[in-house]
Amino acid sequence: MTTLLDTDASSPPGLPDGDSSPLSKAWFARATDVLAGGISSSARATTTGDQAHPLYMHHGRGSHLWDADGNEFVDYLLSYGSLPLGHTDAGLRDALVARIDLGTMFGTCNTVEVELAEQICRMVPCAELVRFANSGSEAICGAVRAARGFTGRNKILKFEGHYHGWVDVLAVSNRPTPQEAGPAKTPASCPHSRGIPAGVVADVIICPWNDLDALRNILRLHGPELAAVIAEPIVANNACIMPVPDYLDALRDECTRHGILLIFDEIVTGFRIAPGGAQELFGVVPDLAVYSKALGGGLPISAFAGRRAVMELIGRNQVKHGGTYNGNPLCAAGALHTLRMLARPESMSRMRLHGGLLMETIERGAHDLAIPCIVQGLGAMFQVVFGLTSPPRDYRGMCLGNQKRYAAFRDALLHHGVHANSSGMACWFNSVAHTNDDLDITIDAITHALKAIA
Ligand SMILES: Cc1ncc(COP(=O)(O)O)c(C=O)c1O
Repeated sequence: MTTLLDTDASSPPGLPDGDSSPLSKAWFARATDVLAGGISSSARATTTGDQAHPLYMHHGRGSHLWDADGNEFVDYLLSYGSLPLGHTDAGLRDALVARIDLGTMFGTCNTVEVELAEQICRMVPCAELVRFANSGSEAICGAVRAARGFTGRNKILKFEGHYHGWVDVLAVSNRPTPQEAGPAKTPASCPHSRGIPAGVVADVIICPWNDLDALRNILRLHGPELAAVIAEPIVANNACIMPVPDYLDALRDECTRHGILLIFDEIVTGFRIAPGGAQELFGVVPDLAVYSKALGGGLPISAFAGRRAVMELIGRNQVKHGGTYNGNPLCAAGALHTLRMLARPESMSRMRLHGGLLMETIERGAHDLAIPCIVQGLGAMFQVVFGLTSPPRDYRGMCLGNQKRYAAFRDALLHHGVHANSSGMACWFNSVAHTNDDLDITIDAITHALKAIA
C-alpha cells in the first residue's frame, strides 16, 4: 500500500465530505497492529481529534500539507510550532544536504554546535552558556537538574495547566480534573499519568497562574525548599493565555527575593514571538530558559541556557548532563540556518501580521454571528476559545470554555482546507512561508467554519 500522491493534486484544498481519506484509514488500521495505539506519541491524538483515524501526511511544501489521499491543507499545526520557515524551506534543505555530505554524527565536539551556541547567546538575553539536547522534555530535565544542583534544594514550583514535557520530573497537574485539582489558591499536585512515582509528584508544588497573591502565599510556605519556579510565559498549552500586566516582573522579583531560580519554558515561545523569545518581548530575564520547536526548524534539537554561574556547574561536571546525540552537526546545521532566518526582523513581522489578521477575522466573524468567544495570543501563536467573553487568567478559567464547539470549528476548517491542532487547549502557529493566497483560503475557511457552528 502506498499513497495516491506523487505530484500535487489540483483539486480545491480540504477534506471532501464522505469517506475522503481511505488511504489514511487503511494506514491507521495497519499501524494499530504494530504501534501502541497506532501512534508514536500521546500528542498525536491531538492531530486526530474526533476523527475515526488520523490523517497520514505525505508531504509538505511551504505552508501547505498533502495527506496520503492527496487532500491539501494550509498548515497551522506546523509540527506544534516547530516549522517557523514552513515545510521544505530551500535554505534549510541546502544546509542539511551540505551537512549530510560531510557526515551527520561524530560523537565528538563539532564546529557547528559552537556556531549555534554563539547564535543563541546573541539572540537570547539570559543565555551566557548553552547546552544542547534532543527534545524539549530532555532539555527541561537538564535545566531542572542544574537548578537543583545550584541551589541544593529539591522542590520545583510549576503552574497548574502548564506543560513541560512528558517525563516524570514535571508531568504533574498538566490537565487535572475538577475532582482531583484541589483548592483554587493551593492546588493539589496530581500525576499526569500512571507510572509517575509519588516521590516525584511530592517534589512539585502547584500554583495557579496569573495570581500574585496565591504565588506569594505559596512562596511564604515553600520558598526555602524551592530550587526553581518554572513557567510557560505565554501558556501555549492553555490556548495562549497571556501573562497579566506586570505579572512576569513580579514573578522575577519574588524568585530573586526567595533565592529561587526562575526558568522560562520557551520551548514554544522561543525564537517565535521575538528573536529573543518571551524574555525579550516582555523584558523579563529568567535565570534559565529552555528551547526546542522553532529552534530546530523541524529537526530534533533542544537547548537549555542561562546564567553563567548556574551553567558553570554543568561545565565543571558537578551537575552531570549527557546525551549521545547532543549538538549533532546535522540538527545543529538545520538550527543554525533557522535561527539566522528568525533573527531577521522581517521574519517576525511577517508571522505577526499574518496571524494578527487571522485573529481579527475570527473575532469579527464570531461577533457578527453572535458566537461568544475570545481570541488570545499574538500573531505568531494564538487560539480561539469559544464560550468565554473575557480572557481566562488560568487553567481553571480556560476549562470553562466550550471545547466541543472548538472541535466542530476545527472539523469544518479541515473540510475547507485548513489544518490546525484539533485541541482547543493548544494553539495555531504560522510561518514565514504563509502567503497572501493562504490568507485568502484561511479567511474563507474561517468564515465557513464559523457559519457551520453558529
Ligand atoms: C511548553 C512545552 N514545554 C515542553 C514540551 C516538551 O517538548 P518535547 O515534546 O519536545 O519533549 C512541550 C511540547 O509540546 C511544550 O509545549
